[in-house]
Amino acid sequence: MNIRPRRNRRTEVIRNLVQETTLGVNDFIFPLFIIEGQNQREDITSMPGISRFSIDTLQDEIASCVELGIKAFAPFPNIPEHLKDKYATESQNPDGLYTSAIREIKKNFPEVAIFSDIAMDPYSSDGHDGIVENGEILNDETLEVLGKMALAQAQAGSDVVAPSDMMDGRIGHIRRVLDENGFQKVGIMSYTAKYASAFYGPFRDALASAPKMGDKKTYQMNPANSREALLEAELDIAEGADYLMVKPALAYLDIIKLLRDNSHLPVAAYNVSGEYAMVKAAAQNGWLDGEKAMLESLLSIKRAGADIILSYFAKEFAQYLKK
Ligand code: PBG
Repeated sequence: MNIRPRRNRRTEVIRNLVQETTLGVNDFIFPLFIIEGQNQREDITSMPGISRFSIDTLQDEIASCVELGIKAFAPFPNIPEHLKDKYATESQNPDGLYTSAIREIKKNFPEVAIFSDIAMDPYSSDGHDGIVENGEILNDETLEVLGKMALAQAQAGSDVVAPSDMMDGRIGHIRRVLDENGFQKVGIMSYTAKYASAFYGPFRDALASAPKMGDKKTYQMNPANSREALLEAELDIAEGADYLMVKPALAYLDIIKLLRDNSHLPVAAYNVSGEYAMVKAAAQNGWLDGEKAMLESLLSIKRAGADIILSYFAKEFAQYLKK
């Protein structure tokens, strides 16, 4: 044998030299859950290690992340049931929970990047990402709401708005609304290929945002499809997206690679709540090594072609790097 691949795996120094993919704190966006009230911190049972924070305690959480080098955040609001309605009106409240949280974070930490969420479901009495009429999700009427929501978030100081709703034409509509109102510098991270996935379960627990009836299959993508992801990417690029995203990540590594190979935009991947919960649950049972499984999962997402990873592991990964 004159070719022996094991020679390059012989020692740790050699293995490190030939390592093709690396992870660093700059690769991550950390999702955060916000609740009303003061001095609140509620643990989320289905996401061990992740909590909902009131705006005040959230500032301490962000400070500890910034200390570790995590400087990009994707907040999501848990809206009390009495503030929800059919049109997600609360999402446009300039002094609502979400917009106030964005303003407070940017006041205390002007250097961090906020990727704010655009979708109706946390504020919708139907628990859907669009307006529901006779059991149908209305597309163009929903765009109006999403545009107003984007504007409210831009006014509160968001750096990048991230539509997670999957309505047709939303990127173009939001871009237009932002530009017409002088927010040319606010970016758009599109949830380009967002699949109708079972892996969002714990997130819906965290926000109490599960659909009250039906499912999301008329707007989120069929897990069986990949060409359709290219169609969505072409539209997002044409409509002015600054980033493309794939969601979930681990069951869709081929889609991450597909978008990486077919566009020049940065590609993000969302390592979603269910993917996080699976690793945590197995580790808590002693069925696998949680830290190693975390590192391997995150590395695989980067190796598949993601430039950016949204992950509930972001802080834990940064702590791992420090030690
Ligand atoms: C909804 C939204 C969801 C997630 C982010 N935004 C859930 C859904 O589509 O029902 C899931 C994120 C996760 O599971 O971590 N706009």
